[in-house]
Amino acid sequence: MKREKFGTSLGAILAAAGSAVGLGNIWRFPIETGQNGGAAFIIIYIMCIILLGLPVMISEFLIGRYTHTNTAGAYRILSKGKKWRWIGRMSVFTGWFILCYYVVVGGWTMHYTFLSATNAFNGVKSTEFGDVFNQFVSNPWQPLLWFVLFVLLTHFVITRGVQSGIERYSKILMPTLFIIVVFLAVSSVMLPGASAGVEFLLRPDWSKVDSTVIIEAMGQAFYSLSIGMGCLCTYASYFEKSTPLAKTALHVCVIDTMIAILAGFIIFPSVFNIGMNPNEVGVGASLTFISLPNVFQQSLGEGSLMSVLFSTMFYFLLFVAALTSAISLHEVATAYVSEEYNLTRHRGAVIVTVTVLVLGALCSLSFGPLSDIQLFDRNIFSMFDDLSGMILLPIGVMFISLFAGWRLDRELYHNEISNHGDLRTPYFRLLIFSLRYAIPIAIAVVFIDQILR
Ligand code: TRP
Repeated sequence: MKREKFGTSLGAILAAAGSAVGLGNIWRFPIETGQNGGAAFIIIYIMCIILLGLPVMISEFLIGRYTHTNTAGAYRILSKGKKWRWIGRMSVFTGWFILCYYVVVGGWTMHYTFLSATNAFNGVKSTEFGDVFNQFVSNPWQPLLWFVLFVLLTHFVITRGVQSGIERYSKILMPTLFIIVVFLAVSSVMLPGASAGVEFLLRPDWSKVDSTVIIEAMGQAFYSLSIGMGCLCTYASYFEKSTPLAKTALHVCVIDTMIAILAGFIIFPSVFNIGMNPNEVGVGASLTFISLPNVFQQSLGEGSLMSVLFSTMFYFLLFVAALTSAISLHEVATAYVSEEYNLTRHRGAVIVTVTVLVLGALCSLSFGPLSDIQLFDRNIFSMFDDLSGMILLPIGVMFISLFAGWRLDRELYHNEISNHGDLRTPYFRLLIFSLRYAIPIAIAVVFIDQILR
């Protein structure tokens, strides 16, 4: 059977950027920046992206494009029967694990888009937004319905295939996302009192920077770039042989970082506009679904056309970002199941979707009927989130980096990134140094630090 490819190099970049730009950019990056020294955090973050993230991204691209197969197959081929092949299998597992809870939040973004568009926040008091959210997620049916819808949308795109599914929708969704981000950031910066928010984001406060901040920047960089598991490797297996790997990776890193910073310009100016303290806004879900609906209402006029427009666009933005990332996570598992077990793409996708529906439902219900099921003080949802983000992902990045630095043949590596001598690669030695030493050591230090705490 002939394997599909991306039709254009722009399509390939947009698909990979679609994977990278996700909830991580919009609900995690701004708040981490705000709490960890503003521009100081951004500088550290960008250093993590360049020194740690980029080399791993290039390696994942290389492994995928060279082997032209799913992630588990790719590592099996390259490791020639040694234990390294487990990296590929673990990657597929991690991706599927992330997908199971990611789609639950995807459902929430749809619900909030709907609430915003129907002006349902009109008349809700500032103190009541927490109840609105908690009642929604603890309801047994509502979040489940949105979650199923979100999974089916992802499934739909995946079953269309690589070119007419993933690439086509990335080409529509990514420009849409970009336009919305710019529009919202510009409108937010123009609000009265916004300059305090802008200053807050841009003033480097080095006094806040300690080892924890560096660790957070690193974790955030890995998560945001979608590295450490099979996503980029799988997408790269659909690249043309002529795709310049390092340049493509650089484009993806720039797009991802830009969107993250712009998200900060959407959130903080409006927070400051209503005189709220950025330390009060909470993180993750509580920032996004409790503080922000209130902030938008207050700063743009309760129930006004502007607030409806702004918040609808904001949640739609989150939805689009989550969808393109979920598609990339789904593709890892679908490519694995269909290629390793010789099934049609359609069958493979159905199997993945069914398993995600079952486990995702448990995550979704863990805010309501299943909230009593706890392990280490976490509900099922948080267990999925923390296990993948704090443990599986860093371990994945570390092993991929060790594999690319030590196990992969250096000549093969050089041939591939230079497209067999067509491209100049002055950064080659630095890249290998990073993969062999800098990245594994950085991650090991973080782990030891976390254990000693
Ligand atoms: N990068 C995405 C975000 O910022 C999430 C994501 C998609 C991801 N694929 C991944 C994270 C692979 C880690 C690994 O939200």
